[in-house]
Amino acid sequence: MNDPAGAKPTRFLRDYRAPAWRIDDVELDVELDAAATTVHARLSLQQDDATAPLELDAEALDLLDLRVDGRVLAGDEFTLADGRLVVPGLRGPLVLESRVRIAPDRNTALQGLYLSGTPEHGFLLTQCEAEGFRRITPFLDRSDVLARYTVTLRADRARYPVLLANGNADGAGDLGDGRHWARFVDPHPKPSYLFALVAGRLESIERTFVTAQGRRVRLVIHAEADAIGRCDWAMQCLEHAMRWDEQRFGRCYDLDAFHVVATHDFTMGAMENKGLNIFNAKYLLADPASATDDDHRHVLAVVGHEYFHNWSGNRVTCRDWFQLCLKEGLTVYREQEFESDLASRTLRRIEDVRLLWRAQFSEDAGPLAHAVRPDRYSEINNFYTATVYEKGAEIVRMLGVVLGRDGFRRGLDLYFARHDGTAATIEDFLAALGDANDVDLSPWLAWYEQAGTPELRASGRHDARRRCYELTLEQRTAPTPGQAHKRALPIPVAVALFDRSGRALPLRLDGEDAAVAANERVLLLGSDSATFRFVDVDEAPTPSLLRGFSAPVRLVQDTSPQALAALARHDNDGFNRWFASDALVRRLFAQALAHGEPEATLFSTWTGCVGSALDDTGVDPALAAEMLTVADATSLADGLDDVDPEGVHQARARVETGLACALVAPLLRRRLALGDGGDLAVEPLAQARRRLRNACLAALCRADVAHAPLARAQYEQARNLTDRLAALGVLLSMRDAGASAALADFAARHAGDALVLDKWFSLQATEADPRACERVAALLAHPAFRWSNPNNVYALLGAFALRNPRAFHRADGDGYRLVADAILRLDALTPQVAARLATAFGAWRRYEPIRRALMHRELERMLGREHLSPDLADILGRSLA
Ligand code: ARG
Ligand code: ZN
Repeated sequence: MNDPAGAKPTRFLRDYRAPAWRIDDVELDVELDAAATTVHARLSLQQDDATAPLELDAEALDLLDLRVDGRVLAGDEFTLADGRLVVPGLRGPLVLESRVRIAPDRNTALQGLYLSGTPEHGFLLTQCEAEGFRRITPFLDRSDVLARYTVTLRADRARYPVLLANGNADGAGDLGDGRHWARFVDPHPKPSYLFALVAGRLESIERTFVTAQGRRVRLVIHAEADAIGRCDWAMQCLEHAMRWDEQRFGRCYDLDAFHVVATHDFTMGAMENKGLNIFNAKYLLADPASATDDDHRHVLAVVGHEYFHNWSGNRVTCRDWFQLCLKEGLTVYREQEFESDLASRTLRRIEDVRLLWRAQFSEDAGPLAHAVRPDRYSEINNFYTATVYEKGAEIVRMLGVVLGRDGFRRGLDLYFARHDGTAATIEDFLAALGDANDVDLSPWLAWYEQAGTPELRASGRHDARRRCYELTLEQRTAPTPGQAHKRALPIPVAVALFDRSGRALPLRLDGEDAAVAANERVLLLGSDSATFRFVDVDEAPTPSLLRGFSAPVRLVQDTSPQALAALARHDNDGFNRWFASDALVRRLFAQALAHGEPEATLFSTWTGCVGSALDDTGVDPALAAEMLTVADATSLADGLDDVDPEGVHQARARVETGLACALVAPLLRRRLALGDGGDLAVEPLAQARRRLRNACLAALCRADVAHAPLARAQYEQARNLTDRLAALGVLLSMRDAGASAALADFAARHAGDALVLDKWFSLQATEADPRACERVAALLAHPAFRWSNPNNVYALLGAFALRNPRAFHRADGDGYRLVADAILRLDALTPQVAARLATAFGAWRRYEPIRRALMHRELERMLGREHLSPDLADILGRSLA
C-alpha cells in the first residue's frame, strides 16, 4: 500500500527496535513568553548501541545553538530536516545542550506549547501526547525513553503569576526585573509525552488528601477567574477517585501535589500529565445551572480516568504507540468501574454499549477499521479511536469476567509490580494476568490483533425426554482491510436460564457435579462453534445471553419475541432487560424499513414491556428512561448495505412515535408522579428521576402536539440546566411555534458561557430535519463560534456530521459539501480536528449509490487539495483505499 500524498511514511509494529540512546536526566530552563519562548535543555545521554548516530525529534522550532559536553557545534556538525536533528559521530555518555525558540501564540495545532485564549488574557500550556514534546525541544520523543526531569520556569510575574510543571515544587523566587521563577523536580522517570507546564493568571481551589500510606497530598484545581466557581464538583470527584483506586485496586498517589488545570482550547477530553492533569473545561467545570446531569457524570468519569492513568499509563507506560490500548483500554475500564460503583452500573453499561455500537461497530465496518493494537500507522493521532478506547476496554472487561474480581485484581497487582517504572506491551499485560492466575491467556492476543466485529450466533433446543437444554454458539468475523482470514476468538458468554415463572434455573453442564450449579455462569466459546448441554432442565427455558454484554459481539439469536418480552419484563440483570427490549426494537425497525410498518402484534408486545417498566416504581427510573429511548439511527443501520438514511430515519420515527402514541396515559401518569424535577441534587437517584421525567416529556410531545404546553412550562420553570435544555430540545424537535423564541431566550440567558452555548449549537446541529444543514451554515457566522476552538467545531460541525445522519446525508449533497469545506478550512488550523471530522465520510461505501457517489466526490476533492496535513491525508487516503 502506498502512502497517500502528504501523509507520513507508514510505521510497522514489527519494526520496533529498542532505543540506541537513552536519556537519564533532563534539565529544562524555559523562558516563557507568548510570542517567543526560549527553551534550554540539558540532556544526559547514554549510548546503548555504539554504532548508532544520535537522532532526535525536533519540529516547529528555531534552533539557536547546540552543545556537546559544553562545546558549541558548528553548523556542519549536525543536520536538522524533516523533523529530525541528526548528530553523527558521537560516543556516549555525553551531555547535549540545545537552545531553541518557539512561538506559542502561533501554535493553532494545539500540540506542544500553546496559548489558550487571547495574548492579553490567556495562559500558556502544553499538550505533548502523542508527539508534541518534539515541538518544545529536540528530544528522543518516544514513550520507551524514560527520564527524570528538573524544570525551571521564568516569566513576567504580573502576566504569568502561576507557574506549574510536573512533580514536586523545588523552590521559587523573584528575579528582580518584574519576572519570577519556579522550579519543579519530578522524581518518577517518565516518557516525554507526560511532560506538562502551565503559566498564567489562574485562580485555584485546594484541599488536602491523606493517602492510605499516610502521604499528605495538596489537591489543587486551577481555572480562569470566571470558571473557578464551577470546580467544586470536580474536586469532590477527584477525592472519590483517589479513595476508590486505593480501595478497589490498592493504588495510592505518589507525589506531594496533584494539580488539575481547565482550558477551553483543547483537542481532546483531557490529559494525564504526571501530577499536572490538563482538562478540556467541558470535562471539568460543572454546576447545576450551567451543566447537565450527564455533564456531571462525565466530569466524574473523566476526572477518574485521568487520575487512574497515574498507575495505568504513567507508572507503567507503553513501549510504543502501537500499545496505546495498554493504557487506554485498561484506564477506560477502570473509569467505567469507578462510575458504576459510584453512580449507576446499569446506566453506565447501557451508555457504553450504545457508544460501542454507534462509534466502534461502525468504525469496524468501514475502511478505517483497525485492530485494538494496530500493526501499522502513519499518523498516531488518528488512532485515538473508539476501537482503541472502547473496544480496548471491552477486552479488559472480558478478562475481568473470565478471571473474576479477585483474580483480575491479583493479575493487575502483578502487572504493576513487575512493570513499575517501565514501558510495557500487551504481551506483558496478558502474561502478568495469566501468571497471577496460573492460566495461559495467550489466545486473548487475537482480540488485540484482529479487527472487525465478531458475529455470535446462538440457538437453543430443549429435549423434554432427556431433560436437557442444548445451547449452540457459533462465531464468525467478516474480513476487514488487510485481514482476509479471521481466527476464532475466546468469547465469554454470560448466561442465565429462566423458567416460566421467571425463576433463574441452577445451571449444571453435562458431566458436572450438582454442587457447582449456579444461577448465572460464563461459557467460554474458544473455537468456531460449540454446544453446551445443560442437564435437569424440565421445561423449555428462556435464555438470557451475553448478560451485561459480556463480549463486544453482534449477537444473533433465534429467541422468540415472547421470550425477549419475558426478559424485557423480568430479567434480574437490568442491562439485559434493556438489551432484550433493544432486540425487539431492532426487529420492529427492520419490519418498518422493509414494509413501511412494523407488525402489530410484535409492536404491542414491545410497547407492553416498556409500559410495564414505566408503571413499575420499583424499576430503576434510569432503566425505564433507557427503555423509552429508541436506538439511534447509526446503530440501527449497523450491518445494512446500501443504506438510505432518509428511509432509516422514517422507519425509526415510525417505531419511536408508535411507542409514544401507545403509552400516552402511563407517560402522563409517571411524569406527574415524578414531581416537578426542580431538585438540584446530583445524586444518582435524583438524576435518574429527571432522566425518566424528560424521556416522558419527549415521548408525550412526539405523540401529540397538544402536549407542547408541558414543554413550554418546563422550559420556563426549570431550575437546572438538565430540565431547561431537555425542554428546549423537545420544543425544537416539535418545530413548536415558540421554539425560535426559546432558542433566542436560551442564548441570551447563557451569553458569554462558551460551554452552554456549545450545547445550544449541538441541539440545532442534531435536529433530525434536512434544514439543519442551512441552520448550521448560518451558525458558523455566530459571534460565539470560533474556527480555532475545537469545542465549538465539535459542538456544531461534529454534531452535524456524526450525529445527524438525516441532514448530513441529505440527498442533494449539501451536507457533505458543507462539512468538506469546513474540513479543508480547519486543516490549515488544527489538523487533528480536521482529521477527526473527516471520519464522517469513512463509511461512504455502505450508502446507496447516489450518496455513495456524492461522498466519494467530496473525499476526492479534499484529497486533491495541496498542502494537506499528514493527519487529514492519512484519513482520506485510508478512506479511499
Ligand atoms: N491520554 C489522553 C486520555 O485518554 C488523551 C490524549 C490524546 N491526545 C492526542 N493528541 N491524541 O486520557
Ligand atoms: Zn486515557
